[in-house]
Amino acid sequence: MDRIENAEVLDRVAGPVSGAVNRFVPAGAFRDLLHGVPIGHPAHPLLVQVPLGAWLSTVILDHVPGGRLPSTVLAGVGTAAALPAAAAGILDWAKTHQQQQRVGLVHWASNTMAVGFFAASFVQRVRGRRVSATLLAELGLASATAGGFLGGHLAYRQAVGSNHDERVPFVLPDEWYAVGPIDEVPDRRMTRRIVDAVPVLVYRVGDRVWAIADECSHLAGPLSDGDLVDEPDAGPCVTCPWHGSEFSLTDGAVVHGPATSPQHVLRTRVRDGQLEVSAAG
Ligand code: FES
Repeated sequence: MDRIENAEVLDRVAGPVSGAVNRFVPAGAFRDLLHGVPIGHPAHPLLVQVPLGAWLSTVILDHVPGGRLPSTVLAGVGTAAALPAAAAGILDWAKTHQQQQRVGLVHWASNTMAVGFFAASFVQRVRGRRVSATLLAELGLASATAGGFLGGHLAYRQAVGSNHDERVPFVLPDEWYAVGPIDEVPDRRMTRRIVDAVPVLVYRVGDRVWAIADECSHLAGPLSDGDLVDEPDAGPCVTCPWHGSEFSLTDGAVVHGPATSPQHVLRTRVRDGQLEVSAAG
């Protein structure tokens, strides 16, 4: 796995392909849907359950008396269901770091082989060629298993799809923390302040102050280096400089992905001229 992560040769494919994917499918409602923004969770891990379940069942039913017809149906269903799962995964992959893209590329290749094997297996079943159909399905399941292993590495070792903002309420327990004199917080400009080892984005307009965790929930990008956007429905929002996720400063909600988890919002107050924040809800 380390060799794959460090295989710079893969960048020759990953770089241009991810660039093309991002140009071909720009930010918007369709992309947000496939990232999983409406459900607050990456959609790809949910969508892969259908092809994996169908394909595993195909291979089992190939060895069960009377399983011929259902295994043919499931080989077809799994192959068709792999398409939306792949689309969601590719869009997620196109918004990741270089090492993640290298592993993701091999994950993608393994699963593409699985789709190819099961598609060929389905055709052989329709033609009545049971032996080759069974063998192709077993090769497909082996490829999908390799792809699943790589997907697990992406999710658990390389933290793709996890919430990088999760630690904030645990590092900042339920109390108020001093940020500094309110007069030193610039007006109408985002700044990064470190509050007990937690980077916090602070934004002030006159007496109104917003504070949210500064590390993007997608892959921990520095939000305070991003752009401010005024959304008609969500008020002031920030766009992450790394992959373009957009969050409301008011409630931390994801306005646009690839992030699917909201940003932690901190309460603010001013006491004796000092700005204080609290991570308590
Ligand atoms: S780190 Fe990827 S969108 Fe912020």
